[in-house]
Amino acid sequence: MKALILSGGKGTRLRPLTYTGAKQLVPVANKPILWYGIESLVAAGITDIGIIVSPETGPEIEAKTGKGDRFGANITYIPQASPDGLAHAVKIARPFLGDSPFVMYLGDNLIQDSLNDFVADFKKKPLGAIIMLKQVANPTAFGVAQIAADGSVTRLVEKPKDPPSNLALVGVYLFAPEIHQAIAQIQPSARGELEITDAIQQLIATHQTVEAKELSGWWLDTGKKDDLLEANRIILDEYITHPNILGDVDERSKISGRVVIGKGSRLTNCTVRGPVIIGENCVLDNCFVGSYTSIANGVSMSDIEIDHSVVLAGATISGIHRRIVDSLIGERAKLTVTEHRPKALRFMVGDDSSIELA
Ligand code: TTP
Repeated sequence: MKALILSGGKGTRLRPLTYTGAKQLVPVANKPILWYGIESLVAAGITDIGIIVSPETGPEIEAKTGKGDRFGANITYIPQASPDGLAHAVKIARPFLGDSPFVMYLGDNLIQDSLNDFVADFKKKPLGAIIMLKQVANPTAFGVAQIAADGSVTRLVEKPKDPPSNLALVGVYLFAPEIHQAIAQIQPSARGELEITDAIQQLIATHQTVEAKELSGWWLDTGKKDDLLEANRIILDEYITHPNILGDVDERSKISGRVVIGKGSRLTNCTVRGPVIIGENCVLDNCFVGSYTSIANGVSMSDIEIDHSVVLAGATISGIHRRIVDSLIGERAKLTVTEHRPKALRFMVGDDSSIELA
C-alpha cells in the first residue's frame, strides 16, 4: 500500500501567511501540519509516500521535509503545475501509484484516529474505497455523504444547500486502483476542478463498494486561522504530556503545568501557564504566556501578555499592554507599541509584516 499526500493548492484562506509559505508547513505545536500526516501513515506501516506539491511551495516543502529518512519513509515529490483539483492530483500521480492501492491524505488535515484499523480493513475486503466521515454542525460548508442502512455510501454532494446528512467528508481516503478508471470518466466541475467527490460517485455508479467510517476522534482542517488555533489547542493538550525545560529560566519567573522550553531560550521575569511550547533561541522578558500558545524558534517578546495563540519563527512582539488572544503571528513579524491605549487586539499578521500601535 502506498500513500499520496496532497500539499499543492493555493492556500487562499490562510493568506497572507501563504503568500510566502506553504500552508502545510504552518506549525501546530511547533511542528509542520504535514508532518503529523506523514507520521500517522508511517505508524500504519505505509512508508512509500508521494507528496503533491505546487511550483511555488514545492521547493520549501522538499527542503524542510526531505526524502523521508527522519520519518522512516521514502518520499517522492510530484509537482502539480496548477491546483486543478484533488482528483487531478491523483491523475498526475499515476506513474508513482501504479496499480497499488493507496491512502490519500490532504496535507492540511489532521485526524486523531489511527489509520491502522482502516488500512487493515481495506486489505481484508474487496472495496473500491473507504471514506471517512465526521458529524459537523454546518454541513453546507463541506462535502456531505448520504449513507444507506447497510452503511454503504449512496451519494456524495459537494457543499449542498440542502444537506442529506450532517456527515462531512474528511480529507483522508483509501482507494483501490479502480479510482484511476473513475477519474478518467469525470469532467471538471463548475469551478473548473476535477473533484474527488465526482470520482467516488463514479465508483458508486460502477457498482464498486464505497464504505464509510465515522471517525471517533477529532478532525481538524487547518486551512483557516481559527481552525489552526483549534488544532494548536488540541495538539498541545495531547502531545505535551510533561514539562521539559531546556532553556534558562530566571528565579523571578513562574512556570506551571506542561511547558516545553527549547534550548538556547532565555526567560526573565515571566509567567508561563501550560500547555505551552516555546522553541529554541527565544528571548522573553517580563511576559505572561497563557495556555495553548505555541512560540516558534528565535522569537523575541517583552512586556506582553499572550494567550491561545501561535507565533511563528523570528517574530518580535513588545510593549502591548493588552492581552493578545486568538492570534496567529507570521514569521519575522514585528508588533511594537509606543503608547498604550487599545482595548482588544485580534491579529492575523503575515510574514515580514510590521504593526505599530502608536
Ligand atoms: P483545499 O484546501 O481544498 O485547496 P487550496 O489549498 O487551494 O485551498 P484554499 O481554499 O485555501 O485556496 O485543498 C486541500 C489540500 O489539497 C491542500 O493541502 C492543498 C491540496 N491540493 C492539491 O495538492 N492540489 C489541488 O489541486 C488542490 C485543489 C488541493
